[in-house]
Amino acid sequence: MENTQNYHMSPNEFRKQGKLMIDWIADYYENIEKYPVLSQVKPGEIKNQLPDAPPAESESMEQIMADVNSIILPGITHWQSPNFFAYFPSNSSGPSVLGDLLSSGLGVQGMLWATSPACTELETQVLDWLAEMLQLPEKFRSTSVGGAVIQDTASSAALSAVLAARERKTNYQTNDSGNLGNLVAYISSHTHSSVEKAIKIAGIGKNNLRLVEVDENLAMRPDLLETAIKNDVQNGLIPFFVCATVGTTSTNAMDPLPEIGKICQKYELWMHIDAAMSGTAAICPEYRYLLNGVELADSFSFNPHKWMFTNFDCNCFFVADRSVLIKTLSILPEYLKNQATESGAVFDYRDWHIQLGRRFRSLKLWFVIRHYGVNGLRYHIQQHINMAQQFAEWVRTSADFELIAPAPLNLVCFAHKKGDDFNKKLLEAINNQGKMYFTHTVINGRYVLRMCIGQTNTESSHVIQAWEIIQETAKELISKE
Ligand SMILES: Cc1ncc(COP(=O)(O)O)c(C=O)c1O
Repeated sequence: MENTQNYHMSPNEFRKQGKLMIDWIADYYENIEKYPVLSQVKPGEIKNQLPDAPPAESESMEQIMADVNSIILPGITHWQSPNFFAYFPSNSSGPSVLGDLLSSGLGVQGMLWATSPACTELETQVLDWLAEMLQLPEKFRSTSVGGAVIQDTASSAALSAVLAARERKTNYQTNDSGNLGNLVAYISSHTHSSVEKAIKIAGIGKNNLRLVEVDENLAMRPDLLETAIKNDVQNGLIPFFVCATVGTTSTNAMDPLPEIGKICQKYELWMHIDAAMSGTAAICPEYRYLLNGVELADSFSFNPHKWMFTNFDCNCFFVADRSVLIKTLSILPEYLKNQATESGAVFDYRDWHIQLGRRFRSLKLWFVIRHYGVNGLRYHIQQHINMAQQFAEWVRTSADFELIAPAPLNLVCFAHKKGDDFNKKLLEAINNQGKMYFTHTVINGRYVLRMCIGQTNTESSHVIQAWEIIQETAKELISKE
């Protein structure tokens, strides 16, 4: 059968359009501060501008990009703006975008070693580099009994950890029989909601998830963890999993890893460490102490897609004993059998996470680490922390604002002294101006403002401007009262 026509983009057209797209992105970065950081559109405003039906005939890239400019851009919240201080960052960088582009271009699906050996082996090596950068114990490296895998998100890593912990505790019986009912897991009242989700998905049940109370720094109290475990054991339940957090989402609280780790060892519980954003700080020697206790953990995960200049999605999930994870998640149907797998000489990363197919994510991470070098990465992380510490100092010495939680790294939780309603109004008024974007949390019943400094291109001038905007807007609101 002969093809007489096709609708594909030719390599030459792709070359032309690709160059224009890179120009578009570079222009976007150059002009990003001109856009309101928080998209100002109303619900439905973007969808209403899109045709009801898909185009029957081909449209040009010029037409598509015209719509990107007029319809899509107004609906973008500019996460890559240096004035983005909301949530935790999801920062990107030039080398990361280029690595991701290359990954898309290669279009590799790396489910098995055999489906693209470079996809697997680069990933293994880059993750061993990261283990070195974070000074993780030997057991987390591929050269030992553990190893690591790139997953999409910290949520997937938490689910993988819960599943592996469940199987280890039940001697891999749950995978077969599905019988559950008496396993119990522990997190703090400030642990990220993704762990609760993992517990639900894994069939453990929310009622079997204990929320351990926190101390005055909002970190998990190990004494209460142990009390809860003892209680459950006495009631015939089987404790199996604890998640400790390095840098909670609300306030960046640090759970005490060594104490929690010792309890996990004593009662034979799986210890997972969620260091989603703040784990990155540990590549700096002066912040490596944050991971003291990781030697007691069974798994550890952090997101270069938050604070390591690698665009979403990229979670690095390390396990101390890969055989447990692989035994939990491995299924080998006939159609995936191949010599390399059967030889046992290779990693097949499909056995290390939930889904089968996988992108070539290590490329972007490799590009980032090589572009910046470890020293370059450390430099920018240190800069972010210094800026946040400066901001915290301004708050501390201000007559009108106060710090609400310790600020160990790049997140500052603070509030105007006029109370919750005023802080809500202040946040809304500032975010509506579009010059900066930050968010809130609630701590001990109080409405609290959060400034997280971690966007790739944020410099002191942006933080100085943010503090001025916050102070000025507060004064304006007061003058109108
Ligand atoms: C501490 C912590 N853990 C987990 C997550 C979930 O991250 P992800 O989107 O990678 O699942 C977040 C998100 O902000 C987080 O702050």
